[in-house]
Amino acid sequence: MQEFKLNNANGLRMIVSDYGGIVRELHAPDRNGEFADVVLGFDTMKEYGSDSPYFGALIGRYGNRIGKGTFSIDGTDYNLAINNGENHLHGGLVGFDKVLWDTQSIEGAGFTGIRMHRVSADGEEGYPGNLDVTITYKLTDDNEWIIDYEATTDKPTVVSLTQHTYFNLSGHASGSCLDHEAIINADHFTPVDESLIPIGTLELVEGTPFDFRERQPIGTRIDSGHDQMKRGGGYDHNFALNKSQSGALERAAFIIDPSSGRTLETLTTEPGAQFYSGNFLDGTAKGKGGAAYNRRSGFCVETQRFPDSPNQASFPSSRLNPGETYRSTTVYRFGVDS
Ligand code: BGC
Repeated sequence: MQEFKLNNANGLRMIVSDYGGIVRELHAPDRNGEFADVVLGFDTMKEYGSDSPYFGALIGRYGNRIGKGTFSIDGTDYNLAINNGENHLHGGLVGFDKVLWDTQSIEGAGFTGIRMHRVSADGEEGYPGNLDVTITYKLTDDNEWIIDYEATTDKPTVVSLTQHTYFNLSGHASGSCLDHEAIINADHFTPVDESLIPIGTLELVEGTPFDFRERQPIGTRIDSGHDQMKRGGGYDHNFALNKSQSGALERAAFIIDPSSGRTLETLTTEPGAQFYSGNFLDGTAKGKGGAAYNRRSGFCVETQRFPDSPNQASFPSSRLNPGETYRSTTVYRFGVDS
């Protein structure tokens, strides 16, 4: 196991492990130029194996849930590992967050980074095809963490790769993130059933707690009693992003921490993003420096194909065929709001 340190010209820095591609630290400046570590995590790598709710980690082969862990391709049924009630979540029992990646440092004009590579064997966690995956992280002098995902397969399969970093822009140990404000670039979200599997429709955000088209505090409507909010225990939903064209790298979300002034913009080529308000955090995991990460003390913006796409014909396809290349880019851009 090895850790890599990435730095940019403005003092932003991150520490990344070749285990799970985990981002263990990420330091960004506030409006006065004071740096804080804004990602939740542990002090040592060994805690990530057992206690982690995917802190900082890469997720694959399929970010989010696949209903009952089954799907079929061209008439063949596949059964995946079941690890979340009756469903499959985040790639299964040993997903991309719990494996070592072949990792090398990379450098170019205006960035430092790492390239991670791994072949996920045919049948791993139940998925078909040998999946050859390359993921790069770049930390740029424009204060962006850019993630490029690429994958090829030798059998038809399904893929949706993402990153599960929990952010708290006041600093990882600052408690609730409900005072952060959010803009989410989506007119629709995908409502879920009791086990958090999309029911297959797109619902307008208008008039619901999911309307973040204008800047809103995360916390104002989170306990409003809206049926979907009760199911998720808060925000734990896929937003169907507004796109000028399919695959365009465009804003998914913009999160502002009014107290520190730190901002985080997420851009993606993906059609969806899961906005997760850390509802299942319960303070039991002892975080960095002994921090107790209580409920809703961090948020994730997980860019993705839609959850359960392999079983939902009307959702954007997550199928990858031999001869094709899966490509996905996400940018987390740090800034300050004065
Ligand atoms: C999911 C949550 C899940 C969490 C695990 C999120 O991506 O949407 O439902 O509990 O990951 O930490």
